[in-house]
Amino acid sequence: MSSSPIIELIREKLDIIDVVSEYVPSLKRAGRNYKANCPFHNEKTPSFTVNPEKKIFYCFGCNSGGDIFKFVMDIEGLSFPEAARKLAAKAGVEYGDERAHQISPEDRERLDLKKIMRAASDFYQKALFSPAGEKARLYLGERRLNKMTVEKFELGWAPAGGSALMDELKQAGWSSDLALKAGLITEREGGRVADTFRARVMFPIKNQSGETIAFGGRVLDPEGIPKYLNSPETPLFSKRRTLYGLHEALPQVRRTGRLLLLEGYMDVIGAHQHGVDWAVAPLGTNLTLEHSGIVRRYAKDTVVMFDDDRAGIQASVKAAETFMEAGLYVRLASLDGGLDPDEYLNEHGRDAFEAKLAAAADPLDFRMNLFFKNKPTPTAQEKAQAIAVLLETVARQGDEVLKSEWVKNLSTRFGVEQASVLKQLRKTSVALPRETPRKAPAAPAMPQMEKGYIQLLLRDPGLIAQSDALAPEDFCSPLARTLFAALRALPPEALAKAPAALAAQYPEHSALVHELAVADLGPDASGGRDAAGAVRMLKRFSSERRLKELKALPSMDPQQLQEYSRLMLELKSSVKDK
Ligand code: GTP
Ligand code: MN
Repeated sequence: MSSSPIIELIREKLDIIDVVSEYVPSLKRAGRNYKANCPFHNEKTPSFTVNPEKKIFYCFGCNSGGDIFKFVMDIEGLSFPEAARKLAAKAGVEYGDERAHQISPEDRERLDLKKIMRAASDFYQKALFSPAGEKARLYLGERRLNKMTVEKFELGWAPAGGSALMDELKQAGWSSDLALKAGLITEREGGRVADTFRARVMFPIKNQSGETIAFGGRVLDPEGIPKYLNSPETPLFSKRRTLYGLHEALPQVRRTGRLLLLEGYMDVIGAHQHGVDWAVAPLGTNLTLEHSGIVRRYAKDTVVMFDDDRAGIQASVKAAETFMEAGLYVRLASLDGGLDPDEYLNEHGRDAFEAKLAAAADPLDFRMNLFFKNKPTPTAQEKAQAIAVLLETVARQGDEVLKSEWVKNLSTRFGVEQASVLKQLRKTSVALPRETPRKAPAAPAMPQMEKGYIQLLLRDPGLIAQSDALAPEDFCSPLARTLFAALRALPPEALAKAPAALAAQYPEHSALVHELAVADLGPDASGGRDAAGAVRMLKRFSSERRLKELKALPSMDPQQLQEYSRLMLELKSSVKDK
């Protein structure tokens, strides 16, 4: 990283705590350091540390670390010169011309990509207001978008001809290599290149700083396929990390700490136009852990509202669980009449919409409401099945106070003893994708021992009853964790058909599940004894791994020390047992 006098000056003038707290408001003093939950990976106990004297940050969870420049680069997705410029302004230092500073080729390319995206966005906007854009303007009018909204979201029109944008970019001196890399033009059959977006209403997708990093383009023709076309992933654009409307929503989200998640482009735009300007949407994908990590930087409360159809309800429950796992307080809202938020706002107005948001239910209530709506008078068996499923939502709740509140609500609503709900909850463990570093290494293959044990369980699912000593975390393969947790979560009556149940739950692992379930265990396999031995071994391996991690720490806090000595003791006694 370059370290010119000007960089030194900026570093000296700025307080790293000030800079970091802007993005991580939960940063708190802890001795000589400051600590918070890491903004770069999902975690529940703070391992992100900032040292104000050395002016550095470091995360013990995901190993990200560096100085203020590195921090701003990573958290905003900026190149070094961009971060430096931003920090220079904050420090009141004259930064001057970036060409005077050293720049890496990747940084150069990112800057160029941003510039060509800007040029494309200007072109599309101009085209919308040209005679050729008339149909698109009419369409936006039909969708009841006003001019201010069109300008705020910088909507545009991609002309129908095959090369309007390409010609324009060439004229302005841009290389077709860069345009290709930006996903603005695409190679077609026969090696010809043409505009990626043709005859589409264009929605620039921006990063949180408001720079255009991609586009979504919508067809006008209701039969057109695909309805929305998105830019490909580029060095600027990763769908998993991008929320549509975040830049526009941030001022309000920062102010109130709450965020509204909707399903699509038009919903977000419609919401903003009606003054619900804290709305964002994922880009036609599920909400990812990365998304929830970003949201957590700015918001504590989230409301999820998706379209009022089966797919929408399913997706919103899933999104709510992802938010919950990130430690966000989340509620689910729904609309009636099969309208999506955009249509609902146009038909009933902001007040009615806000009333729906105010009536949002927590994920458990939401799911219970759904259940009782479909089955007003459930049988005992239907109740038991529903409770087993609902407890997965309860198990995901990281806040223990809320969790016990939920257990209470669940038992009241279903009219069953709290004690039995609690007992059942203990058997329910969900595979939480927690503590995943930002750049997770490729999942390791399932170790033989873990594979063998899962195989035993699939062959003889009753053995799960003897697995109490193990937790999903004790497996090092994520897949083994998931399968183990899923097996344990199966209601007793489903155990007999465990492989089928698992395969249905995880279609992508169906082949493996079936392979394991039918594979030969060898001539001297005797389930019960093998399983008990496997549990002991797996526990031991897991303790050894954890000990190694603890030993690798630069220092241990009292809690870690306690864990360390407990594990050492356990290990000693397990070796003796053998
Ligand atoms: P309108 O039909 O214009 O109101 O759009 P919408 O935002 O209501 O879209 P819809 O509810 O059909 O879909 C929700 C989101 O899924 C959209 O905003 C897109 O992000 C995405 N989406 C929908 N259709 C497609 C598609 O064909 N391709 C891709 N890549 N994404 C799509
Ligand atoms: Mn819609």
